[in-house]
Amino acid sequence: MNSDFSSILAQLADGVPISVDALAQRLSWNRSAVLAAVSSLQTAGLQLQMDCAGAVTWHAPTYPLSRTHIMAGLAPEAAGLIDALEVHFTLDSTNQYLLRQPSEKPGAQVCLAESQTAGRGRRGKQWISPPCCNLYLSVRQSVPVPASGLNGLSLGAGLMVIEALTSLLPPGTGLKWPNDLYVHNRKLGGILVEIPRATRNACDVIVGIGLNVLMPDETANIDQPWTSLNQHLAGTSLDRNNLAARILDRLLPFLQDYPAHGQGYIAGRWPDFDLTLGQPVSVLAGDRVIHGIGAGVDAQFHFRLAQANGTRSYASGEVSLRTHNQP
Ligand code: BTN
Repeated sequence: MNSDFSSILAQLADGVPISVDALAQRLSWNRSAVLAAVSSLQTAGLQLQMDCAGAVTWHAPTYPLSRTHIMAGLAPEAAGLIDALEVHFTLDSTNQYLLRQPSEKPGAQVCLAESQTAGRGRRGKQWISPPCCNLYLSVRQSVPVPASGLNGLSLGAGLMVIEALTSLLPPGTGLKWPNDLYVHNRKLGGILVEIPRATRNACDVIVGIGLNVLMPDETANIDQPWTSLNQHLAGTSLDRNNLAARILDRLLPFLQDYPAHGQGYIAGRWPDFDLTLGQPVSVLAGDRVIHGIGAGVDAQFHFRLAQANGTRSYASGEVSLRTHNQP
């Protein structure tokens, strides 16, 4: 199914009903392969209808993800940094998939999926990943610095996503430490950085990006206020292949240049997008909740919290903006 999905979805993407026989002919498949694919896609949650005359219709929220379209949309610099770019219909998790891959590749391994059955968020949370509407994108890259030099990389990845999409993002979009994309207190996207291999002078990093693009309004089980690009960009056609290419255009050169320029760049740019700077925030550190005012990041890219008795840094923890009616 994974290797065939993009061809059948591409045939259905214009929303015009098409018979199973015509699909079989166009795809050079037999009828039962088409029927099996339609059934698998329905099981995966796609709204594919088959009428009594055997015509299949898909009211696609957007054009399917396509390796060809993403590659064609990339700038030559980013395209030249890629070893492999795979698009899957469904995976447990794009990060987990890349974790399972051998690590020897010098260039970037890129993986996208239309849906994830076990999408992972930070702090052990689940990342709800319905099919064919959002971006679930991971990059695995060897970076020639020790793990101690990777402080800030996850903040930098968030900056790259914001900078890549600036013209499409609604006013008020920014970053909440370490790398959550927010629009007015609602989460638009998140990043999970994992380090599957670390030696004295090099690490493999996996940067996993989840971005809500056309998230259905009725999506359930998300345990925090969320938003999606389509809620802010009515009438704009949101092409996920183009969004993926724009993100990779920024992210891949950033990872490549990280040893020489990464930390300096992040230190300079972070304040421009830091949503908590000068704002009342709470830090959940272990089982303690500490209130204060967001004071940017320190030289280690740890979160700084100002209180009446001074400013402290937090290397980990959950930062949340306090609204007026919270204590
Ligand atoms: C967070 O904000 O908690 C991080 C969310 C990261 C989600 C992305 S989706 C692509 C990649 N695969 C995963 O399983 N997680 C990341």
